[in-house]
Amino acid sequence: MSSAASDVFPPPKDFAAHAAIGSRAAYDELRQVALADPEAFWAARARAGLHWFKPFGKVLDWKPPFAQWFLGGETNASFNCLDRHLTGWRRNKAAIVWEGENFEQRTLTYLELHRRVGQLANALLALGYRAGDRAIIYLPMIPEAAVAMLACARIGVTHSVVFAGFSSEALRTRIEDLGAQLVLTADYGRRRGREVPLKKNVDEALEHCPGVRHAVVYRHTNGPIAMRAGRDLEWAELVASAQPGCPAAHLPSEHPLFVLYTSGTTGKPKGVVHSTAGYLTQVLATMEWVFDLRDEDVYWCTADIGWVTGHSYIIYGPLAAGATTLMYEGAPDWPRPDRFWELIAKYRVNVFYTSPTAIRSFIRQGEAYPAGHDLSSLRLLGSVGEPINPSAWRWYHRVIGHERCPIVDTWWQTETGAILLSPVPGAVAAKPGSATLPLPGIVAEIVDAKGEPVPDGQQGYLVLRKPWPSMLRGLYGDPERYQENYWSRYPGSYFTGDAAHRDADGYYWVLGRVDDVINISGHRLSTMEVESALVRHPQVAEAAAVGRPDELKGQSLVVFCTLKGDAAATPELSEELRAWVAREIAAFARPEEVRMVEALPKTRSGKIMRRLLRELVTTREVKGDTTTLEDYAVLLKLSVEGKDEEEILGKN
Ligand code: WT7
Repeated sequence: MSSAASDVFPPPKDFAAHAAIGSRAAYDELRQVALADPEAFWAARARAGLHWFKPFGKVLDWKPPFAQWFLGGETNASFNCLDRHLTGWRRNKAAIVWEGENFEQRTLTYLELHRRVGQLANALLALGYRAGDRAIIYLPMIPEAAVAMLACARIGVTHSVVFAGFSSEALRTRIEDLGAQLVLTADYGRRRGREVPLKKNVDEALEHCPGVRHAVVYRHTNGPIAMRAGRDLEWAELVASAQPGCPAAHLPSEHPLFVLYTSGTTGKPKGVVHSTAGYLTQVLATMEWVFDLRDEDVYWCTADIGWVTGHSYIIYGPLAAGATTLMYEGAPDWPRPDRFWELIAKYRVNVFYTSPTAIRSFIRQGEAYPAGHDLSSLRLLGSVGEPINPSAWRWYHRVIGHERCPIVDTWWQTETGAILLSPVPGAVAAKPGSATLPLPGIVAEIVDAKGEPVPDGQQGYLVLRKPWPSMLRGLYGDPERYQENYWSRYPGSYFTGDAAHRDADGYYWVLGRVDDVINISGHRLSTMEVESALVRHPQVAEAAAVGRPDELKGQSLVVFCTLKGDAAATPELSEELRAWVAREIAAFARPEEVRMVEALPKTRSGKIMRRLLRELVTTREVKGDTTTLEDYAVLLKLSVEGKDEEEILGKN
């Protein structure tokens, strides 16, 4: 599959001239070195990139599917993100530049951030928390979220950030699965002028979580909240009496830095476990390769800290690199559609990293909004979370980048920890819609159902052949599911769950998920999770959820339900079910459409044939017209004669 010359965007000459990796030849050499001896390559990155309290010995212990990196070494993520910047001029550099939704501004230098992290860490130590304990962080996009993560990391408390848009129910299941003893939260968050009752959600969740000893509450909006004596503690009071200096714990390389829950193919979210040294080594390497970061840059990743992008590319990556990271609390279109462009102009942002869904919504709003602001500070643009359609890529390139800025389309996953496929902007020509090449040390391949590599141009499954330092170390408390989910399909190789093809230039084109995971605006959602939420509703008998292509969000959610005996299929019930899912999971999971049907298509063994429903919602409008109903009847009939879903899926 070759591309027309017009589809290729070579690195702009002046960009390449100043880039850390400024030519394809230099880059190919780096990849070659990594390929020739991956362990030596990563060991050198780890030694040069991190501060070690104790040097590591063995580089990699690989007992598939369990990897351990940099054995015997001791380090600390919080120390690497803070203390080592304090010895030189960076101590007074802005670490976090924050803007609130209400235009409030705060800047924390490395020294100031270090002080606040130390205070909170000391307060947590005084409460008895130690390495090995687990904390849930349920905070809005405010600097305290970074302080909380780094304070936990400092003393070895494994953190799990729960996106502040998640419901109390979703919060509860994560607290329970993790067996967390501590929750760090705020009174309220701000979203489009509304106040989101975070503490109230925590209160509801904690009704069912007796294992949580403390909830530390930061007063953000100062709205009314209930505080339970003995359990709930005021953040401000705790840190006021704490010393700022807190020595960073010397932690083994493999110490679990964080667990992040993400949707899998069952109703239960998976707790993806990340390590300390391997994670940080690779995240830091990608800051250099992909974002070509310079000390004077203002770097802005628009993700939320509740997702892995926020962990790796708002907090750990930029701070380990000593960068200035911009953090914005609110929505892109609040109070006006030009909020992002205003922020770029105001803070002179140089590197801007956002999602295709955001870009598509900017396209809808029109070019007048970005045109009204000075975007000349921008040097590099990034995209993440879903495939970017070539027309959105071109718009981004022309309207935001003024045809001057390279675009890095970065492919990775919660599980991979760091970016694995992406152009290196000064070295690799971009093609709109392609994440281009695997980064150094990454061995990717596209295989068929049997695991055989497919010829270039042919679609197959994206797999990774070799372990990499920032890979997940497992699923929290569930080694079998880890093995089964990622390593059973192609023994020895990591199965990404994505379909892709590779073109004649060796470029990868990632097409999307092949499992029952859908991607709504870059947020991963399991159809099974939605179905389990729906069948908890007293009037729903069975449910099937599928993704439908959506021009704005990439995919949107359509659900089919059968009702219990006496329930009537009314528009009110349909609305109620939509709201129910939003409340049980999160607002982004609210179904676009609820179809109440007589029966669901099933295989002989009784499994719901989601694939047929997927086809139905993809190829036809499902608005209740007769064509659809006939199609649906045909589907039901088909399913009676039906093959097993696996059988059909296998031919995908
Ligand atoms: C899934 C991972 C990576 C952090 C945010 C999402 C899709 C991600 C791209 C891209 C095509 C992409 C894949 C992947 N995806 N980036 N550049 N091009 N698809 O993390 O929630 O773990 O989702 O997002 O389908 O498997 P996540």
